[in-house]
Amino acid sequence: MQIYINNLTFAYGIKTVINNLSITLNQGDYLVVKGKNGTGKTTFIKCLLGVNEVKPGTIFYDKTDITNFKKWTTFGYVSQSLDNFNYEFPITVLELLNVSSTKGTMPQDRLKLLDKMKIFDIQNQNINSLSGGQLQRVFIVRAMLNNPKILILDEPTASIDKQNKEFFYQTVDDLNKNGITVILITHSDELEHLNYTHTLTMYDDYTNSFSIRNEGGEA
Ligand SMILES: Nc1ncnc2c1ncn2[C@@H]1O[C@H](COP(=O)(O)OP(=O)(O)O)[C@@H](O)[C@H]1O
Ligand SMILES: [Mg+2]
Repeated sequence: MQIYINNLTFAYGIKTVINNLSITLNQGDYLVVKGKNGTGKTTFIKCLLGVNEVKPGTIFYDKTDITNFKKWTTFGYVSQSLDNFNYEFPITVLELLNVSSTKGTMPQDRLKLLDKMKIFDIQNQNINSLSGGQLQRVFIVRAMLNNPKILILDEPTASIDKQNKEFFYQTVDDLNKNGITVILITHSDELEHLNYTHTLTMYDDYTNSFSIRNEGGEA
């Protein structure tokens, strides 16, 4: 598996937010995307996911141009601050996972993932009764349900406590060691906890720099 991004440029109207970004990621890579608020990190993710439209020939999955279609089962995505989600909706953890599964995922796979994330016991609880840390684990399970090759996490630790953060770092490491490609958006003060292989730094002037860890580049 390879993700190949070639000279990606993206603008909201006349405001160019991403400028000539080129990146290649291989299976098992772990990319950290960092930069201050408003530098275009989430915008980049939305280009990758096909939510933001970009011009043909910029994003490839292996040899396939995926610029203009979404490969939902390829990417597992946990959005920033779990926005656009109605937490008041009366639905249990298991029900949420059931409606999020594509054909072919087995009920026992859901339970296995819940167990792995140490939230097996809350499967029948209403999602609006969960703590931030529990909710985050539910969303990671949901992102992992359809066996994605790539897991994308947008500022996942912003609203969880220290203990949950440590569990989270470990979980991402385990998934990555099992071959999943990880793209994680975070603040630079968290880098020491992460076993990333690549960094993408986004700047205020909407320039960016991509580098491989430990190869002389900035990290
Ligand atoms: N839907 C949108 N329409 C117009 N401007 C947007 C939209 N989303 C984000 N922006 C602007 O694009 C810039 C980058 O935003 P964003 O990608 O959310 O940054 P980050 O995730 O790094 O905080 C910001 O100036 C933001 O205000
Ligand atoms: Mg963002």
